[in-house]
Amino acid sequence: MQIFIDSANQKEIENWLQQGIVDGLTTNPSIMFKDEVYDIEQGARRLCALLGNRPVSVEVTTNDCEQMIQQARIFARWAQNVVVKIPVINENGESCLGVINALTREGILVNTTAILSFNQAILAAKAGATYISIFSGRVADEGNDPALVIRNVRQWLDAWDYTAKIIVGSIRTVMDIQAAALAGAHIITIPPPFLAKMVDHKYTRETVRQFNQDAGKALQQIARVHAASASGRK
Ligand code: E4P
Repeated sequence: MQIFIDSANQKEIENWLQQGIVDGLTTNPSIMFKDEVYDIEQGARRLCALLGNRPVSVEVTTNDCEQMIQQARIFARWAQNVVVKIPVINENGESCLGVINALTREGILVNTTAILSFNQAILAAKAGATYISIFSGRVADEGNDPALVIRNVRQWLDAWDYTAKIIVGSIRTVMDIQAAALAGAHIITIPPPFLAKMVDHKYTRETVRQFNQDAGKALQQIARVHAASASGRK
């Protein structure tokens, strides 16, 4: 399973890249705005360079399907590791599957985003999406079980030999990450604060503190033995 970082915050990205656990990055216009990246092109180019050859998802900013195609072609020229995020439908409920299909046929990698149901996911896979982003937190907001959606989509992809990869996003709790991993997510995209929570544990801190204290006591004991044998030689 891969871990992507769901962020546009350069400092956080550098921190987690350096720790060797980041396989890719996802953004959306809300994440960029929150992280004070106002110029999408400049921001995306910087993120793509930071990530090396790992995939970086950048979302289109229009509701019009024809304009999505135009934007995606421009985004794809910014860097070799750009993946273009296309919503499964636009805000009027019009299908964007044709956009996904056209871009895929042009060789542009597509991350189909804002997926909230099994049916949306299988259609995105059929249209040719490389990635299918299931929004765990938003599925749960609607009273549905994200783990069930993820598990069913994964089984369907495997049964019919689709190569599309499930990205689980919209992480709201650490438990969402565990549930998505066990349900069969290929990738989970995680905001930096949750990466910090995942690695931490107060009893681990206490355990390490105990070992460090005992290591200190052992050093003191060695020093005492050396001192005693030195005074015995006098
Ligand atoms: C990632 O690809 C998504 O854009 C992101 O995780 C959505 O999260 P949200 O539901 O908190 O907006």
